[in-house]
Amino acid sequence: MQILKSEAELKRALENKKTSLGFVPTMGALHQGHLSLVEKAQQSTDQVIVSIFVNPLQFGPKEDFQKYPRVLEKDFALLEKQKTDFVFVPRVEDVYPQGWKTKINVHDLANVLCGKFRPGHFEGVCTVVARFFQLIEPSHAYFGLKDLQQFLVLQQMARDLFPRLKVIGCETFREVEGLAMSSRNQYLDAKQKEESLAIFRGLNKAEQIYKQGTLDSSELIKVFLQEIEKVQSIEVQYAEIRELENLELIEQVNLPSALFFAGFLGSTRLIDNRILHASEKLL
Ligand code: PAF
Repeated sequence: MQILKSEAELKRALENKKTSLGFVPTMGALHQGHLSLVEKAQQSTDQVIVSIFVNPLQFGPKEDFQKYPRVLEKDFALLEKQKTDFVFVPRVEDVYPQGWKTKINVHDLANVLCGKFRPGHFEGVCTVVARFFQLIEPSHAYFGLKDLQQFLVLQQMARDLFPRLKVIGCETFREVEGLAMSSRNQYLDAKQKEESLAIFRGLNKAEQIYKQGTLDSSELIKVFLQEIEKVQSIEVQYAEIRELENLELIEQVNLPSALFFAGFLGSTRLIDNRILHASEKLL
């Protein structure tokens, strides 16, 4: 595995790149979910590159940029074990060279759900990912569907700006009991981890009654929230059913759509979702 620490090292390493290059962008603190993206990339591309960069542009002033876990040596060991070809750990000046002023905004899709509560977040995500696409020129890029809105925003961004690139969504990787894997889970103590399982239970219940014929969004959300409300320490930020094309609210689940959730357990923000009606966009 080659560790590339600057744009110059990246360019040198990729001079002789093979025909297809799979890219997995990350902010580090890697877990099984990230490794499953690497594995998926390895199955369909000749070489795989993972980036590790805690992107300052996507954190709000009151968010956890400073405390975000940084465990590079551990990450390198996991990627090495996974037989990753390259890991790119750029400096801030490689990603945003002096004088950089551009930010990328995918309208509409980025203004609802997390976008509403984290102003500028998706602008930061799109800008860094576009910058990586520009530097790395991958043929395929892989993202977890746990961040479903992020995936849809980036898929649209790639369609508009990098039309030859294939953007692939990969199923959410869960801990045994059902909590969606996230680098932020390490902020949770044992009791909070237990409490967080209400999210998974709620999503399961909503999906179950959907499959039994309930299409009414408010009914599905009610069932979801009933599970969440059993745990007093979860503070709901949003629980909404939206269609997957434009992320508009829908009253009836008769279009490709998902139940999206965000909430807090103490000071830790957790998101999750369940695709109720699948879409070709996700394949
Ligand atoms: O999902 C993430 O970890 C980040 O938002 C990403 C895509 C690596 C961009 O910084």
